[in-house]
Amino acid sequence: MADAAISPTSTTAKLPRTPPQILGPFYPFMLTPTESGDLTGGGQAKGTILYLSGRILADNGQPVAGAKVEIWQANAAGRYPHPNDENTEAALDDNFNGFAVTKTDGQGRYAFKTVRPSAYPAAPGRWRPAHIHFSVTAKYEQLVTQMYFEGDRYNETDSWLNSASRKDLLITDPAPVIGKEPGAQQVTFDIVLTRG
Ligand SMILES: [Fe+2]
Repeated sequence: MADAAISPTSTTAKLPRTPPQILGPFYPFMLTPTESGDLTGGGQAKGTILYLSGRILADNGQPVAGAKVEIWQANAAGRYPHPNDENTEAALDDNFNGFAVTKTDGQGRYAFKTVRPSAYPAAPGRWRPAHIHFSVTAKYEQLVTQMYFEGDRYNETDSWLNSASRKDLLITDPAPVIGKEPGAQQVTFDIVLTRG
């Protein structure tokens, strides 16, 4: 008998692709993205420092080198430095640049130092859970998505997160990191494209 584990199905198994999400109303077209990888002004930003890293992969598991990775997000108070964000009850943070860009290395890796964003009101009576927006541009495709946080009280009701085919692929669970700022956390968020 042939070995059942060796089959066309198993040898061609694909990684599950990261679901897309909307761009949203706060893409910071008017800002210059930070290229150093540090959005926190050297750790001066308010809130929980978050070391965010991961890999960009094709669905065959190969790393995608040289992909452009952009992130943008609200600050620790839940505010975007964007004219469309009229939630003036949440303060801006002069030490936080909520927009950054980098390129993946030869192993498809990217890394940012940022803060954990807060949830924010999207409309009367409707809150968006904390999230970080991503736009990944590779050779053959672009993916716009959002990364969320385990345990957020608004995850269950958010229409955008719940529109994802696999929302588990978008929800992360940061852990404490030793030897960094007090209370700092780290998290890994890998993104799977089709071809890269
Ligand atoms: Fe957002």
